[in-house]
Amino acid sequence: MPELDLHELFNLDDKVALVTGGSRGIGYMMAQGLLQAGAKVYITARTEEVCRQAAGDLSQYGLCESLPANINDATAREQLISKISEVDGKLDILINNAGTAWGDSYENYAVEAFDKVLQLNVATVFAMTRDFTPLLEKAASEDEPARVISIGSMDGLHIPTVHGVGTYAYTASKAAVHHLTRHLAVELGPRHITVNAIAPGFFPSKMTDQIFEHFGDQIKRNSLLGRVGKPEDIAGLAIFLSSCAGAYIHGTVIPVDGGTIINHRHS
Ligand SMILES: NC(=O)c1ccc[n+]([C@@H]2O[C@H](COP(=O)([O-])OP(=O)(O)OC[C@H]3O[C@@H](n4cnc5c(N)ncnc54)[C@H](OP(=O)(O)O)[C@@H]3O)[C@@H](O)[C@H]2O)c1
Repeated sequence: MPELDLHELFNLDDKVALVTGGSRGIGYMMAQGLLQAGAKVYITARTEEVCRQAAGDLSQYGLCESLPANINDATAREQLISKISEVDGKLDILINNAGTAWGDSYENYAVEAFDKVLQLNVATVFAMTRDFTPLLEKAASEDEPARVISIGSMDGLHIPTVHGVGTYAYTASKAAVHHLTRHLAVELGPRHITVNAIAPGFFPSKMTDQIFEHFGDQIKRNSLLGRVGKPEDIAGLAIFLSSCAGAYIHGTVIPVDGGTIINHRHS
């Protein structure tokens, strides 16, 4: 085997990426990682000012642009596609990260929660991937496939025990993202587009603020590594899957949870 060029293996120079929900939390962490690896990164979120501010902050690491949009909306998706098509003519990396949750007791759990959560977490992941496929194909080749990375959850792999409330629509939606990933892999692999899902454990974010406040100690204990996720944990995996190093990973769901889902010591 020839000597490995580690820079070539992991760098994302000349790649164009879109991170949905990149204005905060896990999306922001991954956007920063991709930027530092050399990619140009578009971030999208509904709140224009926050999205613009985040892109401004992220610009210290590379070329980052804010494209505010509600990605549940087909017209907004078309506008995103037009903009990236016009400026870059291709998309190398699509990260379907934007997601939402709903927690309540079993008795009170609103059936409407399923409409809201499954729409963004599953239907929109499908719509974004399908609608961006022509632009991903423009970037794709046998040697350098384009990438679709969807953010599932460890809660799609096990039943969460620490929330104190039921998250029925959320857990079902994340299990669906994982299976959708495998289904899309069958469709898109032959087109030289890899499709994978990341299943994070607990990372500090707006979505998990309340849970950390009440269950922080238990969350740490449930991880076999005794801690929560750090930005570099999720950024590193996003870089790996997006780079040459991850080019042969396809149709998988990769947990990044410190061993939480295999830990049966839940208290
Ligand atoms: N944090 C964790 O511990 C954890 C664990 C497992 C999985 N996850 C998954 O990781 C992903 C990110 O979670 P997070 O914790 O970082 O959540 P977060 O802090 O709530 O961030 C969600 C992001 O998505 C954007 N967003 C929400 N609805 C949108 C829409 N309709 N169109 C466009 N953007 C939208 C939000 O911005 P706007 O509100 O301005 O639109 C924000 O940028 C989610 O899929 C979540 O399920 C998180």
